[in-house]
Amino acid sequence: MRSHKIIEIRNLNPSTYVIQMEKNNFTFKTGQYITLGFSGSIDRREYSIYSSEKDKYLEVLIKEIDEGLVSKKLRKCKPGDFLDVDGPFGHFSLRENELETKKFLFIATGTGISPIHSFVATHPNLNYTLIHGVRQENEAYERDTYKNGNYVLCTSRENTGNFHGRVTEYLKLNPVSSDTICYLCGNCHMIYEAYDILEKQGITLGPIHTEVYF
Ligand SMILES: Cc1cc2nc3c(=O)[nH]c(=O)nc-3n(C[C@H](O)[C@H](O)[C@H](O)COP(=O)(O)OP(=O)(O)OC[C@H]3O[C@@H](n4cnc5c(N)ncnc54)[C@H](O)[C@@H]3O)c2cc1C
Ligand SMILES: NC(=O)c1ccc[n+]([C@@H]2O[C@H](COP(=O)([O-])OP(=O)(O)OC[C@H]3O[C@@H](n4cnc5c(N)ncnc54)[C@H](OP(=O)(O)O)[C@@H]3O)[C@@H](O)[C@H]2O)c1
Repeated sequence: MRSHKIIEIRNLNPSTYVIQMEKNNFTFKTGQYITLGFSGSIDRREYSIYSSEKDKYLEVLIKEIDEGLVSKKLRKCKPGDFLDVDGPFGHFSLRENELETKKFLFIATGTGISPIHSFVATHPNLNYTLIHGVRQENEAYERDTYKNGNYVLCTSRENTGNFHGRVTEYLKLNPVSSDTICYLCGNCHMIYEAYDILEKQGITLGPIHTEVYF
């Protein structure tokens, strides 16, 4: 367990924020997550790392959950406070031998975009399409990070994105070629449904990677 000093809190919309911490000598592989909590507290939660492997700081993207314990408390942190960080953990990682040769499809709902942000920031030359499913446009977190034309915003509760509906509906209308490597991150229902659709489109088990948040 390490203690990391907070540099800043960046608010992205009324319920979502980025905590930027000093990196110290922490190393990780893009796509991994940490557990975060207050010093001495047993209440810790998992958060995917949002920043790139190369950044000099460590960032996480967090959405405050109604009735949630830790996500609401973390919002109240101030620059200069310290948080306990454990990790890195997880295997939601890109494979070195595929980085330059393969075509990637990233499907994320809500803050499930966090590890994808880290992928793209770490490897800017990736050949990818990102399908991001959110309720409304103000959840298209820092969308300027993604190359023009690579980012498809699916808004389910208003007609303000590139597509009005869920990511699964978009996927059915826009089939994926069978040589695509897929990474899915977000709520488990989306992941199960998207997985089924991808399998029906001819993507076999091997090239589908998943990270379930809740
Ligand atoms: C591997 C992994 C990586 C994760 N990465 C992130 C991340 O990068 N950013 C992030 O905001 N969260 C992430 N989460 C979720 C995070 O760990 C917490 O569960 C979340 O912040 C809620 O914690 P809480 O203490 O506020 O709510 P709790 O008091 O623990 O729970 C409240 C309820 O909220 C549900 N819930 C948990 N997460 C979400 C969510 N994102 N949306 C809707 N409902 C939810 C829980 O199932 C529970 O029923 C990740 C989870 C896992 C397992
Ligand atoms: N109080 C509020 O005003 C408010 C507002 C937003 C969120 N919340 C709460 O915050 C939490 C997180 O919400 P979130 O919007 O960040 O995450 P979310 O519930 O995972 O929704 C993100 C996106 O995923 C879509 N989705 C949900 N299930 C899916 C499935 N099976 N297949 C494909 N797509 C699916 C949603 O579409 P749909 O819109 O069609 O479900 C939405 O577009 C929830 O617990 C929610 O109750 C509260």
